Amino acid sequence: MSMRSTQRLATLVVLASAAFAASAQGPGLGIPIREADVAAWDITVFPSGANLPSGRGTAAEGAVIYAQQCAACHGVNGEGGLAAPVVGGDPLTNGIDTPKRIKNFWASATTLFDFTRRQMPLYTPRTLTDDQVYALTAYLLAINDIIDEDTVMNAETLMQVQMPNRNGFKPRFPAMMP
Ligand code: HEC
Repeated sequence: MSMRSTQRLATLVVLASAAFAASAQGPGLGIPIREADVAAWDITVFPSGANLPSGRGTAAEGAVIYAQQCAACHGVNGEGGLAAPVVGGDPLTNGIDTPKRIKNFWASATTLFDFTRRQMPLYTPRTLTDDQVYALTAYLLAINDIIDEDTVMNAETLMQVQMPNRNGFKPRFPAMMP
């Protein structure tokens, strides 16, 4: 081996061991995640009601928000349009092709809260406040005749809602059911 290539090899060995030492300690990038950062993502509400935020809303309040932010896709009265209807639904016993709706299919009112909060409006999810989500949940439940239109929705009353298809599922995780 020539003098030159010996030097080159030595340089490579030094560089490689420096890189190894650096990777053993981590690349030194980023900052430690804060509790508050995690909390913003930790929004799943289970049927048990765990993680339901504080807040409240009525169907009347929800109707206003619905008209402004939801009706364009789901129809003025929830009858559907660009997106699925959010009202009604024939009995599922009519056959396998019967469309699944909030009223005839969803087993838990907390799912309606969770889905609306994390996913809607379609192009601007996570822009609704918790009060607005409670209000929209109240509105959607009321137009489906699942709750009285005067019932205020909050963490406590939402848990008392009996969805029509409540017993239509075999829970995969029974401990998470109310
Ligand atoms: C830009 C269109 C758009 C807007 C606006 C919108 N949605 Fe949706 N929404 C959708 C689409 C798309 C789906 C997926 C279901 C489908 O239509 O196939 C959906 C699904 C839903 C579902 C589930 C329906 C089911 O039975 O599966 C709910 C509940 C819902 N949206 C509520 C809302 C609420 C409440 C608002 C207003 C805050 C809203 N959406 C605004 C497009 C929209």
